[in-house]
Amino acid sequence: MKIIVTGGAGFIGSHTVVELIERGHTPIIIDDYRNSKPFILSRIEEITNTTVKSYNIDCCSFDKLDKVFKEEQPDGIIHFAAYKAVGESVNQPLKYYNNNLNSLTNILSLMQKHKVDNIVFSSSCTVYGTAEKIPVTEKTPRKPAESPYGNTKQVGEDILTDFFNSEHDKNISILRYFNPIGAHPSGLIGELPIGTPNNLVPYITQTAAGIRKELTVFGDDYTTKDGTCIRDYIHVVDLATAHIYAIEKIAKQSKQLDIYNVGVGIGTTVLEVVQTFEEVNNQKLNYIIGNRRAGDVVEIYSDNTKIVEELNWKPKYSLKDALRDAWNWQKKMQND
Ligand code: UFG
Repeated sequence: MKIIVTGGAGFIGSHTVVELIERGHTPIIIDDYRNSKPFILSRIEEITNTTVKSYNIDCCSFDKLDKVFKEEQPDGIIHFAAYKAVGESVNQPLKYYNNNLNSLTNILSLMQKHKVDNIVFSSSCTVYGTAEKIPVTEKTPRKPAESPYGNTKQVGEDILTDFFNSEHDKNISILRYFNPIGAHPSGLIGELPIGTPNNLVPYITQTAAGIRKELTVFGDDYTTKDGTCIRDYIHVVDLATAHIYAIEKIAKQSKQLDIYNVGVGIGTTVLEVVQTFEEVNNQKLNYIIGNRRAGDVVEIYSDNTKIVEELNWKPKYSLKDALRDAWNWQKKMQND
């Protein structure tokens, strides 16, 4: 299939482009590099030994996007392009609503106009908020969003559902990501945080590399086994493959709306991540215990039964693999 990948040079997008090529598909990247770097394209080409077509376009520019749809006539879209920093969204909500929602409505309008039937959408486990029962299944009720970013994911899901209900033949797969970490095992592509990382694993790798003085563990007085928060960390390559399986499934259907949790189904504390990183990479990490971070949920991890059963998808990589690959990527980046 020919598939437009918006945000295809980004962290999850670039890994998905690689997996698409490896499964015999033709990805077309749309990215304006505001949160990624053009060199990622040549890295994707190096890994896959192919040439990848790309457009430098903002998904909020309807007319430019229209031209790409007209030119490419894709079979489907995987839509990653969006802002994703929870804290920033609290201070700049309009930036988030404008970008994340306009790009989505543009894409859906163009799916109507050019008769493109399949879309996979990046959602997040943030839609569950503080869930009453852990692990969360896709039926766990969504809680009011705790940030404008989280709200763009909830509203994005709602827009897709309304669109689905109003159309005769559209297929939609909503993937609710847990915590993506790691990097491609080749060490050629990975996460490129701009400025100080907000997320745990890039902060850890930058600390180990000496770019940051120390990691602050945000709170050790939660009601968990070691007092630190619990998350479901998934290797980015496993997350990427879920997109391929998701679009391959819906492309065979007519009028289908799927929602899947994409996680490994294992809850891991912050201190367990730190210890595993130290162990697997033989690195001592400087860290201190700090205050709780506002807005953090204590514990969330997935019940991934639905995606395992319906898509025959299974995570291949462990937490150790992910932390080894993340460190490998950090080291390679510095040496390049
Ligand atoms: N953490 C630290 N120190 C840091 C960074 C993070 O202790 O420097 C802790 C956090 O408090 C949290 C855990 O590490 O307990 C994971 O934090 P991340 O920022 O890596 O990830 P989050 O779980 O907060 O965020 C992720 C996604 C968001 C999504 C959210 C939903 O990055 O996009 O899950 O829960 F909205």
